[in-house]
Amino acid sequence: MRVVVIGGTGHIGTYLTPRLVEAGHEVLCVCRGTKAPYRKHEAWASVKKVLLDRETEEGTSSFGEKIASLDPQIVIDLTCYHLESAAQLAQALTGRIEHLLHCGTIWVHGHSTVVPTTEDASRSPFGDYGIRKAEIERYLLGLSRSKEMPITILHPGHLVGTGWNPINPQANFNPEIFAALADARPIALPNIGMETVHHVHADDVAHAFLLAMARRNSAAGEAFHIVSSAAITLRGFAQLMAHWFGNEARMEFLPWPEWKQTVSERDAQHTWDHIAHSPNCSIAKAQQLLDYQPRYSSLEAVQEAVADMQRRGVLHA
Ligand SMILES: NC(=O)c1ccc[n+]([C@@H]2O[C@H](COP(=O)([O-])OP(=O)(O)OC[C@H]3O[C@@H](n4cnc5c(N)ncnc54)[C@H](OP(=O)(O)O)[C@@H]3O)[C@@H](O)[C@H]2O)c1
Repeated sequence: MRVVVIGGTGHIGTYLTPRLVEAGHEVLCVCRGTKAPYRKHEAWASVKKVLLDRETEEGTSSFGEKIASLDPQIVIDLTCYHLESAAQLAQALTGRIEHLLHCGTIWVHGHSTVVPTTEDASRSPFGDYGIRKAEIERYLLGLSRSKEMPITILHPGHLVGTGWNPINPQANFNPEIFAALADARPIALPNIGMETVHHVHADDVAHAFLLAMARRNSAAGEAFHIVSSAAITLRGFAQLMAHWFGNEARMEFLPWPEWKQTVSERDAQHTWDHIAHSPNCSIAKAQQLLDYQPRYSSLEAVQEAVADMQRRGVLHA
């Protein structure tokens, strides 16, 4: 298949683009050429880079047509954040490709009700990002279900991989929390540490895109959570990471208004975004229809990334 990946050099693309080449596809990667993949792989030599700035091209209504003119059979869109972007692309591709795969997010759900959350839960997103991604989901699934074009949406959790810092047990990206756990220093958690995070290894997401391509008949018109097999609580996450370092976690708990004063504004914002969502998503649908079996648990994914942080010198522990 001739596959165009829009944004194929980022967290997901680092794993997905080489996987597509290895599976025998002809791969074109659309990006601006500013971001290098996080890992080297010989497959990149076979990938054709198409340098386009999506925002600029969308401004002149030419992005969709430029993607269509690459003559793909499959398009994987990893960089779509606005309904207008999704519409411009979908309109240009309708009738011209075999399958459009769109990368969503579990943030389309907003607050959880019954957990683990299933894909058919009614949407109540909050925050600009989640609201926009839910609008895109509704639009694209509507097109697919009305038989305009086969479209599949994969909703990843918090992406983890080698080369960047994963969400830590405070639910932000500060590497110091892992260092504190490694050194058996105390860490403060908001509230009682029972809010959840739901990671996924980016390579499991990459694999899920290939599974969805291979099972287009089951995947078309559907959205799937692509997360690890189980979410974790912040206090459980802290304890299990401390054990991995050979320690017991020394945890203190503070009510949110006090806790947020103990960290930077940026860390507090990230933590709030994660704990307000406290995601806990089911993968039963992806297991059933796509045969998705994540290779990494949340902890395995994070531990691999933390070992890589130590190698990169980001974590001084
Ligand atoms: N990060 C998470 O934890 C997370 C969680 C759930 C869902 N998601 C979803 O994952 C998707 C993002 O995937 P990712 O994290 O792998 O992406 P990423 O690491 O942010 O990489 C973005 C990719 O898009 C390219 N790009 C950025 N701006 C562009 C532009 N204006 N025109 C053309 N190419 C552009 C980048 O290359 P250049 O810079 O070279 O252009 C790069 O290849 C989004 O749909 C997001 O909603 C992310």
